[in-house]
Amino acid sequence: MIELQNVSKSFAGGVTAARDISFRVGKGETVVLIGLSGCGKTTTLKMINRLVESDRGTISIDGAHIDQWHPVMLRRNIGYVIQGVGLLPHYTVSQNVAIVPGLKGWRREDITNSVEKMLKLVGLEPAEYGDRYPHELSGGQKQRVGVARALAGNPDIVLMDEPFGALDPITREELQDEFLKLQQMLKKTIVFVTHDIFEAVKMGDRIGIMNNGVMEQLDRPAVILKQPVGDFVERFVGQHKEYLTEYANRNSARG
Ligand SMILES: Nc1ncnc2c1ncn2[C@@H]1O[C@H](COP(=O)(O)OP(=O)(O)O)[C@@H](O)[C@H]1O
Ligand SMILES: [Mg+2]
Repeated sequence: MIELQNVSKSFAGGVTAARDISFRVGKGETVVLIGLSGCGKTTTLKMINRLVESDRGTISIDGAHIDQWHPVMLRRNIGYVIQGVGLLPHYTVSQNVAIVPGLKGWRREDITNSVEKMLKLVGLEPAEYGDRYPHELSGGQKQRVGVARALAGNPDIVLMDEPFGALDPITREELQDEFLKLQQMLKKTIVFVTHDIFEAVKMGDRIGIMNNGVMEQLDRPAVILKQPVGDFVERFVGQHKEYLTEYANRNSARG
């Protein structure tokens, strides 16, 4: 379980990227943060694994303040899919996926097993893809590797920053569908960032709509669509309201 209480962050230069943000992500839940570019999604995500240190407020994981861990140790135990994938270009696919297990000091054999298992989970045959370099992969395959890398250390928590961004619509839908299936099996606690309202409604148990560093509303998609709070949320979901409402209702009916 992740909990943010009244968390704020300003950068030198005067930008307040997060203002008094509070929310909780239950065990096995996916909360999607959505909003326009620059609204503070990545900053909020990075405060959870302390790639960015908050100025104010508290962040805790399973009830313990995140300051209790050394940032490096914290990050080994939280999976992270970086915006723009960020695979190491001189590492093979297997080496990229093996990074966190290696840092954790796992036995060679356990690392190899985890890498193979994770590559299979994301639909990449280890024998075919393991020894390739990132430039030998398609955009969709790179993003699959990014997901495998985030999962390889077997974290309970996974932070995903626009993990399926910059893909053609068909590949993106494929990856979304596969990830939903994977999540049903793995039941990770996930904070997922996107700027795509369709993706948010599809992937999120709950979605949080951010604007200028402020969390305008965080709730189940069906509730936000039915009862948007404030002008910004109204406008943000308003354009596609009918389609989204139908979609969200279908999803909640499915459970
Ligand atoms: N390291 C930084 N230094 C200064 N300003 C930053 C830094 N990181 C982010 N910002 C600013 O904070 C705001 C929020 O950025 P970000 O969290 O990356 O937004 P998003 O992920 O929603 O696009 C933006 O105005 C951005 O320019
Ligand atoms: Mg971002």
